[in-house]
Amino acid sequence: MSKGFTLWFTGLSGAGKSTLAREIEAALLERGLKVELLDGDIVRTNLSKGLGFSKEDRDENIRRIGFVSHLLTRNDVVVIVAAISPYRSVREENRKRIGRYVEVYCQCPLDVLIQRDVKGLYKKALAGEIQHFTGISDPYEEPEKPEIHIHSDKETVEQSVKKILCTLELLGCIPRVEEENEYSEAEEGQIRERLHALGYI
Ligand code: ADX
Repeated sequence: MSKGFTLWFTGLSGAGKSTLAREIEAALLERGLKVELLDGDIVRTNLSKGLGFSKEDRDENIRRIGFVSHLLTRNDVVVIVAAISPYRSVREENRKRIGRYVEVYCQCPLDVLIQRDVKGLYKKALAGEIQHFTGISDPYEEPEKPEIHIHSDKETVEQSVKKILCTLELLGCIPRVEEENEYSEAEEGQIRERLHALGYI
């Protein structure tokens, strides 16, 4: 059985994609898996250098990341992607191409993101200094059936990490690690029910 799969984080800037992606990367490396992290901010300095934030350029960026993810996934690598990836159709295109694909929607209300504004970009976008800023002056199309739905304003990073690892185990993407399985039966039951309702298990 192939060990590769792609764990794709989507959501607004500042919603916690990169933070969770790094935590999951560390947890999976700890479990002895081969892992590669593709983060939007870093990809845009090399693979997608020169691309901007029009719909065309964002779709091109996401397609390129999807292509690399496809190559790595079929070679038994666990790929973790953190990119806003605001458009549904190209996300679905990647899902089909990659096959073993798990989507994580990192959701956080806009007012909380504006208040936190870690990179100071929301302030600039609201002042009109940055155009086409996702969530302010550019669209974000929410996932309809994400395997994992994180509410980063209500969950701690630790809770989100547990939820993601538990889901990956239940989907058969990673082996079960009994001694590390700290989530309660109730928590696991909720995840199982959700995946069942969505038709994933
Ligand atoms: S995506 O839309 O193509 O998926 P990606 O995740 O690669 O975006 O890059 C988003 C990052 O670029 C943000 O975290 C932010 O730091 C920066 N950025 C600069 N301009 C914009 C913009 N107009 N909209 C969103 N993010 C922007």
